[in-house]
Amino acid sequence: MDSQVKRIGVLTSGGDAPGMNAAVRAVVRTAVSKGIECVGIRRGWSGLINSDFVRMESSSVSHIINKGGTILYTARSAEFMQPEGREKAIATCKLLGLDGIVAIGGDGTFRGALALSRQIGESGQHLSVVGIPATIDNDIGCSHYTIGFDTACNTAVECIDKLRDTMQSHERCSVVEVMGRHAGYLALYVGISVGATAVLIPERPVDFETDVVEKIRRARLAGTTHYMVVVAEGAGSAFEIAKRIQEEVGIDPRVTVLGHIQRGGSPTARDRETASRMGYEAVNVLMEGKGNRIIATQDGRIVDLDMEAALAMHKEFDMERYNVLQALTNSGR
Ligand code: F6P
Repeated sequence: MDSQVKRIGVLTSGGDAPGMNAAVRAVVRTAVSKGIECVGIRRGWSGLINSDFVRMESSSVSHIINKGGTILYTARSAEFMQPEGREKAIATCKLLGLDGIVAIGGDGTFRGALALSRQIGESGQHLSVVGIPATIDNDIGCSHYTIGFDTACNTAVECIDKLRDTMQSHERCSVVEVMGRHAGYLALYVGISVGATAVLIPERPVDFETDVVEKIRRARLAGTTHYMVVVAEGAGSAFEIAKRIQEEVGIDPRVTVLGHIQRGGSPTARDRETASRMGYEAVNVLMEGKGNRIIATQDGRIVDLDMEAALAMHKEFDMERYNVLQALTNSGR
């Protein structure tokens, strides 16, 4: 099929995620393989406003599949959220002769894409944007999986395993805060993987007595002398949880906030492979001229969804993993 797409842009936006580089690489390499020119837009949407872009060849993305972060940098652009800022971005799109853009990021990135596409449409021009979901939070409603989540989980698990060594030696309680913004996917997945004593997530109101105190006491009765409590940042502050444990259980916890270490590191095979498949699919969807789409995974398959409809989708609470967690943290250890 002779596509009308001759030149595309690619950008990374929002919080970075391990695997973004793999997605950028796949977009560039797929475009080149189809005779499409590729322009790297730096620092998210602000790169269009500031004409901050670079021609991308196949060699531009060599040796990056294993690197965390994003070679295109990322930023959140308040100016782009305004029509005047988008007008500057539209001028850059015209200057570059872009037929489409692949935007790698989260919900905010995709909402910006829709606003840009609508505003361009008002000027009689056409530009499709295809989004690739990349955030360690795994909190994008239309996709079962988002790039970076597996790597962040493994980073957190590795850190908490190290914490367990010293907590075991000193027979202490560790309270660990993980990222996830307003979602508890990271905490749930990591909590199960490290055999946490208790896990607090924003999707379930915290009943401190039931969710923390009783679980520590039950573990102690079962003979355990150290305890690992995982807290999603959206469920509360690890320092406040630790203070309440000290007051209500009478032990003196140590607090670790993993923070941005969860955003770095070499992406896992799952993130590299998923990002590569998504980047490949994004270019093909642009070539098919299907309009603004989001590439998503559903039951392990890579699909593309209408962007507006996709942004209105919500993920059901992961009751299966929550039930597993409840069973494994209520048995004492
Ligand atoms: O969305 C990814 C994320 O790492 C969240 O988990 C976290 O709350 C937020 O970004 C931190 O944002 P920033 O990097 O701007 O501090």
